[in-house]
Amino acid sequence: MLFDPRPKNRREEIFDRETELNSLGKGLREYPITVLIGIRRVGKSSLLRAVLNEFDGLGLYLDARRLYAAGGGTISPAVLVDEIRKILLGKGRFGFLGGIKLEGINLGGITLKPKETGIIDVFELLNSLGRKAGRAVIAFDEAQYLRFYGPRGGKDLLAGIAYAYDSLPNLGFVFTGSEVGLLHDFIGIDDYSSPLFGRVYEEVEVRPFHRELSEEFLRAGFKEVGMKVPEEEIKRAVDELDGIPGWLVELGFNYWKSGSFERAMERTVERAKSMIREELFELEKRSHRYSLVLRAIAIGLHRWKNIKDYVEAKSGPITNARLSALLKNLEKMGWIKKENGEYRIIDPLVERVLRD
Ligand SMILES: Nc1ncnc2c1ncn2[C@@H]1O[C@H](COP(=O)(O)OP(=O)(O)O)[C@@H](O)[C@H]1O
Ligand SMILES: [Mg+2]
Repeated sequence: MLFDPRPKNRREEIFDRETELNSLGKGLREYPITVLIGIRRVGKSSLLRAVLNEFDGLGLYLDARRLYAAGGGTISPAVLVDEIRKILLGKGRFGFLGGIKLEGINLGGITLKPKETGIIDVFELLNSLGRKAGRAVIAFDEAQYLRFYGPRGGKDLLAGIAYAYDSLPNLGFVFTGSEVGLLHDFIGIDDYSSPLFGRVYEEVEVRPFHRELSEEFLRAGFKEVGMKVPEEEIKRAVDELDGIPGWLVELGFNYWKSGSFERAMERTVERAKSMIREELFELEKRSHRYSLVLRAIAIGLHRWKNIKDYVEAKSGPITNARLSALLKNLEKMGWIKKENGEYRIIDPLVERVLRD
């Protein structure tokens, strides 16, 4: 069902996105590394899960954000290896893994245990499973959180991935990220000090739906649940929510459940508020000025100087370098964009929540 608010798992549940699904599928089958980027709630996890479900090799889905949260702000090598072990055992329960029987944690004669960083061993194992299964792919959702892996900011993991890139032809990697700049920084393909510097990879970008497609999406969703919805409501919904599928789904679902457009809109904004509040809370941990900067932009202060005045009025002097760093980070994290020297909030609902 299109209006199911959970991430989708199958191609049939996904509206449009034929091109993205196909590029992602090709990435999984043919590239050592595939990167899937796009802002929050645009549909990355859904596309990734759908493609992994269709993948005829061995595909492992790992949510780096969840591992980070479960580890209280770090991802330990032992936890990551254990997670991979559990996924493999789960797949083993269904009998075969591309012809390989799994017995206990002894996988095809190779014992899975974290040795030193643990990573290369596990990648070697997956590579040999991949040889039999056609190919193995590890997909890290919200992979920018892997910078909290181990004691060296994820460098050990990257070194393992670089090793796999060079030496393990049956193992591929997918990274997704909402915080696009942070993900690029982490992978470091353009950074000559990174283990992955200069490697070739496939990049797939998921963008919000454009106007017509957003309207079509709502129409298709309402039709599916047997509702006739006036055109002006469809248009108003897209005016307020833009083409971000996560919000459109939220609205559609709430309308279907409550029968009232106004109430559905209110609930969607409420839900957005609580989700965004949680995200802001994470941001505040890094610096309390992030939300001040965002607020300044949301209330219409788009220029550097005005943002600076606002932040200083609220929390005292800030150096130019510090403010630049905050703005640059917000851009990297996908909260704002800079156009013709002006800063804008990317997601209109985020803007609205910040304004209230
Ligand atoms: N193309 C699509 N068709 C149907 N539902 C979608 C589509 N894209 C996203 N969604 C829905 O939007 C919400 C956010 O999607 P998700 O895959 O979690 O996004 P992301 O991982 O980019 O944050 C989910 O409820 C998902 O079901
Ligand atoms: Mg996601």
